[in-house]
Amino acid sequence: MTERTLILIKPDGVQRLLVGRILARYEERGLKILGLKLLRADRALAERHYAVHRGKPFYAGLVEFITSGPLVALAVEGPNAIAVARATNGATRPVEAGPGTIRGDFALEVAQNIVHASDAAETAESELAIWFRPDELVEYGRDIDHWVLAADD
Ligand code: RTP
Ligand code: MG
Repeated sequence: MTERTLILIKPDGVQRLLVGRILARYEERGLKILGLKLLRADRALAERHYAVHRGKPFYAGLVEFITSGPLVALAVEGPNAIAVARATNGATRPVEAGPGTIRGDFALEVAQNIVHASDAAETAESELAIWFRPDELVEYGRDIDHWVLAADD
């Protein structure tokens, strides 16, 4: 099923000069980029994004970290995009992330795990609305789509 999902390259990914290489992984996989921007999240935005984690011991650190510098927000579309993006990112704890995943290749610590991706259809929808206005998402066809996508996608 064609889905849309939100991906963030968190401030550690930007500071470590990994933005291009990380974007390439989603792009080369075949996911279609619908929205892309670099911004510095303020506290209110970070708290909306991480509302589900409010009250957890790592919540304050999470908000602190994601507001600590610019990040890249990315809206992508494709078959099973939500699961594909999370598989591309790898396990939350980098020690458990397989080689070939972003976290498995570039991260060691759970707080500095470089990327975020929405975890379900409902969170993808709400998170996309947090980070992108509707007019910031661009719909377009790609000439390569018949090489990448099944005819009925
Ligand atoms: P994400 O939301 O970033 O895509 O990652 P996730 O679904 O795999 O992990 P989630 O449970 O939603 O946690 C969000 C982020 O919080 C940090 N975290 N720290 N110290 C800890 O035990 C801990 N647990 C989670 C991670 O940076 C994680 O990506
Ligand atoms: Mg999560």
